[in-house]
Amino acid sequence: MKEQRVIEAARSLFYDQALVKFQGRYVGTVAAIPRHAGQDLNYNEIFIRDNVPTMIYLLLDGQGEIVRHFLDACLELQSQKFPTVGIFPTSFVDIHGEIKVDYGQRAIGRVCSIDASLWWPILAYIYVQWTGDKEWVTNSQVQLGIQKFLDLFLHPGFRDAPTLYVPDGSFMIDRPLDVWGSPLEIQALLYGALKSSAALIAIDLEHKDYFDQGTALFEPFIQQQFYQLNLSINWAKNLRNYLLKHYWINSNIVQTLRRRPTEQYGDRIVNEYNIQTETIPNWLQEWLGQEGGYLIGNIRTGRPDFRFFSLGNCLGAIFDVTSNAQQSSFFKLIIKNQNELLSEMPLRICHPPIEDIDWKSQTGYDRKNLPWSYHNGGHWPCLFWFLVLAVLRQKEKTDEMEQLLNGYYELLLQRLPKQQWAEYFDGPTGLWIGQQARSNQTWTIVGFLLVHHFLKVNPEDSKIMNLPSLKYLQQLNTINLF
Ligand code: GLC
Repeated sequence: MKEQRVIEAARSLFYDQALVKFQGRYVGTVAAIPRHAGQDLNYNEIFIRDNVPTMIYLLLDGQGEIVRHFLDACLELQSQKFPTVGIFPTSFVDIHGEIKVDYGQRAIGRVCSIDASLWWPILAYIYVQWTGDKEWVTNSQVQLGIQKFLDLFLHPGFRDAPTLYVPDGSFMIDRPLDVWGSPLEIQALLYGALKSSAALIAIDLEHKDYFDQGTALFEPFIQQQFYQLNLSINWAKNLRNYLLKHYWINSNIVQTLRRRPTEQYGDRIVNEYNIQTETIPNWLQEWLGQEGGYLIGNIRTGRPDFRFFSLGNCLGAIFDVTSNAQQSSFFKLIIKNQNELLSEMPLRICHPPIEDIDWKSQTGYDRKNLPWSYHNGGHWPCLFWFLVLAVLRQKEKTDEMEQLLNGYYELLLQRLPKQQWAEYFDGPTGLWIGQQARSNQTWTIVGFLLVHHFLKVNPEDSKIMNLPSLKYLQQLNTINLF
């Protein structure tokens, strides 16, 4: 049967060619299976973000040990030097015993991948939940790693907002695209990372019975654990409220936003970021319709970004930033705009692309981020499994959505092997292979295997990325710092 042959071929590319060793043991996958020696830029390296689908698939396939090796390798490479202490690498590689690590100092544009650091605690939590390996979390190296990570993220700043302020291109979109400030994907990951870190600390404290003893008796390390546990939970709660207040929109909300006063000052105002009506684009009317809703791309003083970013929105649903009702409106939005977002290749990474003078000034004439290409409106098959997961973990799934996903599975089955598992696709429908796309891109291959697993093998496994609920975490909370 053709389907079975494609699955076997994808698995063999994944296990036989993409999975590599680091310091002598299997640890993760390269970004793309090498073509010609020396011509792969950094695509022969192990990227943390590209390994997210890899790690989820390995867990589903009973290979938890490789996932633990990956987490340990990243932990060993967590930066120990000022001013980057606590940062996890964008990518790393072992070439004949020589270890190269990129914290952003080797990347084009020299930007650090902040998402990589945020993914580590999330993957660590998923690993522990899925395998039940609680002993690993109680290891002092792991707890120390979490502590350094939180030291880096939970620090005082110059803004009274729980969002993380970052430079342009600091996540999957790792080139200029006017995504500086507080881009959605980073905020959704921050929310997931805070909840995961809190839960990982709590497992350790519980295991050592520290919850039952008076904190005053404890050594500084444990006091810091309690402090960070509470701070992360409060921060996560604040962050969620903030995202729902400032990022979530639907037709009614837009109508309210359009009629807000500007130039207000003080505590009790409705337009905190002094946003002018003219910044609200007209395409929103048709795009949202009566029932659609989504989290916008960014909130910045006077300059909100209403572009739709697929991954940030899927993560917002998967990590439960958005409520069940909001997730349903998000799926309605996808159905309504399927000709744009899914079209000939799911999913479009962001909509709409920036064009003309905006492309010139905001990307600095970036050659890869041309309109309708790459990050700027291109279509990335590696994103589709996130949508599948978001839909399947919903209690009220609609037949329409499930049919849509199954139809797209068939499309991927036909197109991806023929087009050599390309990295991304270009043009308003995503029909053309990306102008500079790699072939045999690992997250395209494993993303497809995940779609197959969730839709055809075991939809129940879609709970794999469930993070601890705020409600559960708040029961552990003892101090209120905000
Ligand atoms: C590109 C993508 C980035 C990815 C890397 C390796 O730089 O923009 O998100 O991690 O390729 O696949």
